[in-house]
Amino acid sequence: MSSAMRGWQGCIMQRLQVSFEYKVCFTRGVFSLRNPILEEVLSDTAGLRTPMLLCADEGLLKAQPGLSEAAGKYLAQKLKDRWCRPVMVLPGGEAAKNDPRLVERLIRRMKAEGLCRHSYIVAMGGGSVLDVVGFAVSIFHRGMRLVRLPTTAVAQADGGVGVKTAVNRFGGKNLIGTFAPPWAVINDPAFLRTLAPEDWRGGLAEAFKVAAIKDRQFWLFLQAHADELKARSQQVMEAVVRRSAECHLKHIQAAGDPFEFGSARPLDFGHWAAHEIEAMTGYRVGHGEAVGVGIALDAHIAWQGGWLAGDELQAFGAAMERAGLALWHEALARRDARGRLRILRGLERFREHMGGRLTLTLPGPMGRSREIHELPSATVEKAVLALKERRERRNSIRAAAI
Ligand SMILES: NC(=O)c1ccc[n+]([C@@H]2O[C@H](COP(=O)([O-])OP(=O)(O)OC[C@H]3O[C@@H](n4cnc5c(N)ncnc54)[C@H](O)[C@@H]3O)[C@@H](O)[C@H]2O)c1
Ligand SMILES: [Zn+2]
Repeated sequence: MSSAMRGWQGCIMQRLQVSFEYKVCFTRGVFSLRNPILEEVLSDTAGLRTPMLLCADEGLLKAQPGLSEAAGKYLAQKLKDRWCRPVMVLPGGEAAKNDPRLVERLIRRMKAEGLCRHSYIVAMGGGSVLDVVGFAVSIFHRGMRLVRLPTTAVAQADGGVGVKTAVNRFGGKNLIGTFAPPWAVINDPAFLRTLAPEDWRGGLAEAFKVAAIKDRQFWLFLQAHADELKARSQQVMEAVVRRSAECHLKHIQAAGDPFEFGSARPLDFGHWAAHEIEAMTGYRVGHGEAVGVGIALDAHIAWQGGWLAGDELQAFGAAMERAGLALWHEALARRDARGRLRILRGLERFREHMGGRLTLTLPGPMGRSREIHELPSATVEKAVLALKERRERRNSIRAAAI
């Protein structure tokens, strides 16, 4: 018997090691007939005529009218009959994650096409569509090859390059989901030019998040280029998305817990409040925008704890506002019948999700992080009040200027 199999008190010890490897490519014009990247990623496997199904975000196709045709032309030319026509169009936004029929629709189509474990699914869209398609792909035949083409700044900078899928069920955000690394990811900055203002800002919030806890140089870059980001400089956004994606990938690879078995979620700085704001507003506030408010709140909490200096807190808030992010949402001030801040429910849900004790990641000093395991409600009250007063001061300055 090998030593790996020698047991503890007569048990057989089973040990498995599975490694994952996937490319995250950055390219322009992914459907240009001269661009070989997607074709190479979808290469045929040992002459199996590996089929491929394209799933696309309806909001994206509406915003970029020529896109569906360009994709069709590319796939028809490069994949010929391996492409399972027509494109499967899915509603975009959080509605996609809220609708249980969508996973069923996806699985019916995959079955009708006779897809197998070697088949490719290309998912093109925002983080919501990628999450729902990724979930369906990970459970159909226990997983197929998912190629993501993220089309929002949040998805390109964060979720689209990671290893998680999720849908919302039973009133819980991301309550059902899987860890399922993709086959490949292709980030094309050209997708970002049609983003609605709130989705442009959303990606910036995730960038500020990761910079604040992981990468001081990146934080300084964001601070220096905040005005250009507000003015929608494509060039600066491209650099921000790339650096943010690199930070997320590095963390997933190097932090030693890609499938989150531990009780810490180091990339979820600001997310306990963000997820609650999304749910409290019926998802009218998008994920990225909610993250902007959540990180402003948590940064204030880090300052109260003495980990973030006052001038760093001020600089952080000012740079986010210059980039166009809001640090306040009225949901922060809502109270339940007992007068408790309703946002505090987010902390409970976070603790419940992670199991064990509460672990929150906060910045301090900028570019570095620390974990805390307790957060008194009085500290949250103070942070909410400070953000509210900041908002009121800004409003009165604006009113005086008119
Ligand atoms: N799996 C993960 O690790 C992970 C990480 C971060 C976020 N997420 C999830 O991602 C979701 C948010 O994703 P999101 O911020 O990308 O927004 P989204 O997917 O909800 O899309 C927002 C809107 O933009 C539209 N859209 C998509 N691409 C477009 C484009 N290029 N031009 C114009 N419109 C476009 C969509 O149709 C939708 O209406 C949340 O549910 C969040 O929980 C998942
Ligand atoms: Zn996020």
